[in-house]
Amino acid sequence: MTDLAPEVRAYYERGDEDQRLRAGAGRLEFWRTQDVLRRLLPPRARVLDVGGGSGIHAAWLADDGHDVELLDPVPLHVAQASRYVPARLGNALELDAPDASYDVVLLLGPLYHLLDRADRVCALREAARVTRGLVVAATINRFAALHDTLRMGRYFEPDVRARASATAEFGAHRPTAADALFTTAYFHAPDEIAAEVAEAGLAVGGQYGVEGAAWLMGGIGEWLDDPARRADVLDAMRVTESVPSLLGVSAHVLTAARVP
Ligand SMILES: C[S@@+](CC[C@H](N)C(=O)[O-])C[C@H]1O[C@@H](n2cnc3c(N)ncnc32)[C@H](O)[C@@H]1O
Repeated sequence: MTDLAPEVRAYYERGDEDQRLRAGAGRLEFWRTQDVLRRLLPPRARVLDVGGGSGIHAAWLADDGHDVELLDPVPLHVAQASRYVPARLGNALELDAPDASYDVVLLLGPLYHLLDRADRVCALREAARVTRGLVVAATINRFAALHDTLRMGRYFEPDVRARASATAEFGAHRPTAADALFTTAYFHAPDEIAAEVAEAGLAVGGQYGVEGAAWLMGGIGEWLDDPARRADVLDAMRVTESVPSLLGVSAHVLTAARVP
């Protein structure tokens, strides 16, 4: 089985993942992912959360009444996720589960770190094999690094700009050791993940921009602190979430697909 690239493993072993979506603007990704998944999942589903990290989504899915299991290749994540659901070591490229054994397979992260298309299609085929219903796959958008570095004011640094531009053009994101912005990753165009999902034998049912354009807005952190404004932001992002011309502006896209 292909292991994680050493720098990807080292990045997640830092232990930042457990807090990433619990504070600041990261909460937009959390609440929007939750909002979309709550509309897609059938009630009381058997769910396999592949690359589920520290269990941030597994926890609320279990509270919602789903029967959730989590797989992740990082032992720290497995230990953290075990607080909420049964969790075990595993890799999206080779799932240790029988055919058609889950109602839903979530791939909210593994595709970020598979730079070869053949590996991404392999992970999607594995998800298709073990589900009898739905697969939901998250991807980072092709222009996320360009937008994010511009938002942070770091696009004006020549080396940061060169990497963001290369990612926008080719998809592969390869930061230097000195640049801790993210780790080695693949950034998809929305139609590119749809084609990979179809090649894995799944029928695409819908695509959803997770953060829409809201993640780029200066006031977003404050708006999310205010429950009334947060609800308004979530409403607004529901309006634009599947508009094809706006999908690429979001930081992440969820692609929902079914076994035909
Ligand atoms: C950005 S985190 C996302 C965690 C969580 N699913 C979420 O949505 O917040 C990406 C996760 O994918 C996991 N991962 C990376 N490559 C993987 C692979 N080949 N198979 C399974 N999980 C993988 C990482 O260990 C990490 O927990």
